[in-house]
Amino acid sequence: MIRTTDADWQEWGERDPYFGVVTHSQFRKDRFKDNKEEFFASGERDVELAITQAGRFGGPLKFGRALDFACGVGRLLIPLSHRFEEVVGVDISHGMMREARKNIDELGRNNVSIHESDDDLSKVSGTFDFVLSKIALQHIPVQHGMRMLRSLLNRVNSGGGAVLDFSVEVEQPLRKEFQYHKYRLVRLLKGRDKIEPPMKMHSYSLRDLLREFDDCGMKDISMDIQKHFGVVFVATISARKP
Ligand SMILES: C[S@@+](CC[C@H](N)C(=O)[O-])C[C@H]1O[C@@H](n2cnc3c(N)ncnc32)[C@H](O)[C@@H]1O
Repeated sequence: MIRTTDADWQEWGERDPYFGVVTHSQFRKDRFKDNKEEFFASGERDVELAITQAGRFGGPLKFGRALDFACGVGRLLIPLSHRFEEVVGVDISHGMMREARKNIDELGRNNVSIHESDDDLSKVSGTFDFVLSKIALQHIPVQHGMRMLRSLLNRVNSGGGAVLDFSVEVEQPLRKEFQYHKYRLVRLLKGRDKIEPPMKMHSYSLRDLLREFDDCGMKDISMDIQKHFGVVFVATISARKP
């Protein structure tokens, strides 16, 4: 059965993929052309920071294989492809994956493959020196996100690192759940073409996350915590000791 959030992301991929990734008005499809450079510069900064964090925390990274979970339009795949020998991206949205492929091909990068995602990442083979996921797991229902987390961590090489974002606290979760379903109903009544799909946020348990990292052999973990718009976000930085 297709999850409602997966259907929402399929739609974002078709309707307005760049705004779906970074929700600033300058990345709307009618304004994107003039702001493309800025969009991809943000990916460059995010990858540089994530690699620095992983290297500082876990020791020197190897630049063999990297995995970008929920890669969207390739904002992070591109900078990863300049640093790693081979890069794999996965996503649920066909429209997003199509844009990512186009952006990568335009640059002539031939070391990136993109696959459709599922909870066990069954289309991804092998292990990785670096596993990254930015601003994505927060949009995936926790039960599935935890399973994906396990699939991701189990693919980190000995000596490798992972930088994975989560939202751990969403204020007034019951109210937000109600608002989400109300929004979906209004959309159904008014017409899906008139109202954009929602971007649902989910709240992970910090304790469950820490247990999962530990169970998967990522014994050392550090976190960078930020709060925006009533949501607490953590970027987890973890390493698998050689
Ligand atoms: C806000 S965008 C972030 C994209 C990318 N990580 C970045 O930082 O540029 C969230 C992405 O998560 C993807 N996504 C949502 N649910 C997913 C799932 N169940 N499996 C894989 N990707 C998913 C969406 O299609 C979308 O591309």
